[in-house]
Amino acid sequence: MMSEKPQSGSRRRFLWTAWTALLGVAAAEAAWIVSRVLRPRGASGTDETVGVMTAGPVDRFAPGSVTAFPEGGFYLVRLEDGGFLAMSRVCTHLGCSVPWIDSEQRFVCPCHASAFDVRGEVVNPPAPRPLDLFEVRIENRVVKVNLASAMRRTAFGASQVVSA
Ligand code: FES
Repeated sequence: MMSEKPQSGSRRRFLWTAWTALLGVAAAEAAWIVSRVLRPRGASGTDETVGVMTAGPVDRFAPGSVTAFPEGGFYLVRLEDGGFLAMSRVCTHLGCSVPWIDSEQRFVCPCHASAFDVRGEVVNPPAPRPLDLFEVRIENRVVKVNLASAMRRTAFGASQVVSA
């Protein structure tokens, strides 16, 4: 016949307490994650501005220029007419990063040779659509780009250009 050791009860209590504490921590983490996921964007007044990047003063960008913002994942294009486009550097074929080739005046994807003109339109497939755009805002002659979401498009349109 086996007899229970005297410390067995205290060991059980310790394990039960530790297990309960771990469950409490896990429940708190789960509640925090759920609250972050379900919270509406902009509800705190800060989320809406988190994705907005200041590119710089309008005059810093010459007409007919393409300026890379690697940290934002976009190019700021100033067209010859002075209007702005903020283009994603993500290729619309399979997502490679697309460099601007100044000597060719176009974006050329190193993965499968898709090419895009300065307005982001496809000039060489297999890319199925133009480069995506980010919203451009001009506030007090300063260019800002909203990186919260990239906008898909099927073609370039004049309405996509933001005038200075
Ligand atoms: Fe750019 Fe395929 S990922 S052409």
